[in-house]
Amino acid sequence: MKDIVPFTLGAAAAGGLLLREHGMRTKAERLSAATLETLLNAIDANDAITGAHVRRVAAGALILGEAAGLGERTLRSIERVALFHDIGKLHGALTDIFHEDSKLTPEERRAVMTHPIRGAEVLAPLKGFFPDLPKGVAAHHERWDGKGYPRGLKGRRIPLVSRVVAIADSFDAITHRRRYSHARSFSEAIRAIEEGRGTQFDPELADLFLSPPVRGKIEEVTREANKPHKNSDNRRRGGAERAPDVTFRWRPRSRGPRALGHQP
Ligand SMILES: [Fe+2]
Repeated sequence: MKDIVPFTLGAAAAGGLLLREHGMRTKAERLSAATLETLLNAIDANDAITGAHVRRVAAGALILGEAAGLGERTLRSIERVALFHDIGKLHGALTDIFHEDSKLTPEERRAVMTHPIRGAEVLAPLKGFFPDLPKGVAAHHERWDGKGYPRGLKGRRIPLVSRVVAIADSFDAITHRRRYSHARSFSEAIRAIEEGRGTQFDPELADLFLSPPVRGKIEEVTREANKPHKNSDNRRRGGAERAPDVTFRWRPRSRGPRALGHQP
């Protein structure tokens, strides 16, 4: 009996500690989710078109990542890199360039090419929590053949998450109008991915993207994103550009804000 009392007290204390630790971990997860969503709100507030673009890219990249059989950790990383890949475009030196309608001058083109590094610099404080994020964002315009920028990385030296995001990003850039190009059809975008297989894009990932099941899902998401959404966040974000809502895989399940529509 004498031994049972201290044992019971010890077990209760350990249980209390565990609960406290669990509570702190949940709080830390919620804080990290809130930080990322605040950053996404800042993108929306500054530029609704980019806000819609990055959401569509995230939806497409997650479809491709899941088809590739990537684990939850990598999928979360893909979602983060996709949602923040263009944050460097919000830099004061670049915003005017992205919003004017005339063709880019060579000097403007050079300035545009700084956006991956500018993005990585913006995200640098998050490096300790999400080491893949600044690196993945910096590499989203690298090409499989080594002719991309900013570093000219080649093949598998390009982070996997950036290779996945690069395909979804190019696909979305083709199907939606930009300053430097008009929106083209779904089949033209598919053709561009085919043509970039092994030069611009990782050939295995490009093949997967072009496979009927993935293509079908991408087509569905594109169609859904282009529908008018009566009461959705799309309206709040400016309406003209449509985007699927994303799941926010980083959001803790128990007490996060409402789950958003798209379930990849
Ligand atoms: Fe970009």
